[in-house]
Amino acid sequence: MKIRSVILAAGKGTRMHSELPKVLHPILGQPMIMYPVAIAQTVTLSPPVVVVGHAAEQVCAAVGDAAEYVVQEQQLGTGHAVQQAEALLRGNCEYVLITYGDMPLLTADTLQKLLDVQLAHTGPISMLTFMADDPRGFGRIVRAADGSVRAIVEQAQATPEELAIKELNPGVYCFSADWLWNALKQIELSPKGEYYLTDLVEIAVREGRSVQAITVADEIEMIGINTRIHLSDATASMQQRINRAWMLEGVTIQDPATTYIEPTVKIGRDTVIAPNTHLTGSTEIGTACQLGPNSFVRDSKLGDRCEVFSSVVEAALLEDDVDIGPFAHLRKGAHLGAGVHMGNFGEVKNSYLGPGTKMGHFSYLGDATIGVNVNIGAGTITCNYDGERKHPTEIGDDVFIGSDTMLVAPLKIGAGARTGAGSVVTKSVTEKTLVVGMPARAIRKLD
Ligand code: UD1
Ligand code: CA
Repeated sequence: MKIRSVILAAGKGTRMHSELPKVLHPILGQPMIMYPVAIAQTVTLSPPVVVVGHAAEQVCAAVGDAAEYVVQEQQLGTGHAVQQAEALLRGNCEYVLITYGDMPLLTADTLQKLLDVQLAHTGPISMLTFMADDPRGFGRIVRAADGSVRAIVEQAQATPEELAIKELNPGVYCFSADWLWNALKQIELSPKGEYYLTDLVEIAVREGRSVQAITVADEIEMIGINTRIHLSDATASMQQRINRAWMLEGVTIQDPATTYIEPTVKIGRDTVIAPNTHLTGSTEIGTACQLGPNSFVRDSKLGDRCEVFSSVVEAALLEDDVDIGPFAHLRKGAHLGAGVHMGNFGEVKNSYLGPGTKMGHFSYLGDATIGVNVNIGAGTITCNYDGERKHPTEIGDDVFIGSDTMLVAPLKIGAGARTGAGSVVTKSVTEKTLVVGMPARAIRKLD
């Protein structure tokens, strides 16, 4: 038994007032369509077919090989949109699930329930419905006296009695495939000049077939995005959903309203997240870390028991027991060994700091390799750029770099060496040697 899904995403999304196609507007770092694409894959165990039209190339490029595509050249309505998938799917599947690219909060559980209902019944259609006081322009579910679904009436065509109906159509269906492909051909043009997918309900009823409906209790799942207000509502709901899931896994989140965790992030238990903290991209956090307040961690890996206080961490690697901040900035390729301490106003880019190294106050390290237990004095700078090229700095174990040292790369400082405060080091320093001055000179050997 094969199940495939179709995601409608050909519409323009006029009310977003945007150059970006609606379904590509991000929610916690993901284009909103990636959420329905992911749940479709989970439930059907195959990539969905996305119906694209408006800005088709952009949508295909963003979703990539997570989906297959069919193009709806002219947007002649939801029924017409589904018809575009016929050539690809007819004869290849027994059931077709249909969702929209602008419904990011629908869960795989709900979609699975819909499929299960369809599998358990003989009627050709199963659909979701929900109850709401504000109809927001959704189609109304018309039921007969015996409670069976008779029709979906679009707001534009509804009578005053129908407009008062509180049961709404979110636009999520499961069809028996053979029935679907034939019935789509019977849809007639609506007064608005569109082929309405919703007409299939009346077509089934006319044939004496039954329509199964599941009423979803969680209205949040049914949020469809038409405006940027809906976008912010959906983002808040997704944020809350993700935060709650992490709290249930053993992560403390002090202020969920100001904590933004993208769905791609992983966090170990007993980590504590303070207010206004953003964890994004491919970030992985170990156990018992302290993050925030006011911290941004993107595409980075942190070991266990790390502390990141009011700092920005981008594409960096922190081993266990590292503490940084307040106001530290780790950039791409920063790798801090176990137990490294980095205090305020430091910046590290493309550099390795060995275990136990300390860099307490306003320093810049770029393209540097630093050994074990090195002290980087306040105001130390690797002058790694000569205006044309970047050059490396190497500092051995147990080196003491005095305050305000300029390290003019390329340069090697041998193990156990020291630089005096204010040194401008322009040549490599041999191990266990003290250098001072501008340009720095060796003044004695150290024991
Ligand atoms: C549709 C339903 C309505 C339901 C509502 C829920 C129909 C006729 N009506 O109305 O009952 O309450 O969704 O949001 O189905 N699309 C295409 N190609 C088209 C037209 C639409 O791909 O030619 C896509 C859109 O990009 C969108 C989805 O289908 O993702 C829904 O289209 P939209 O025009 O918003 O339908 P509604 O009028 O809101
Ligand atoms: Ca809509």
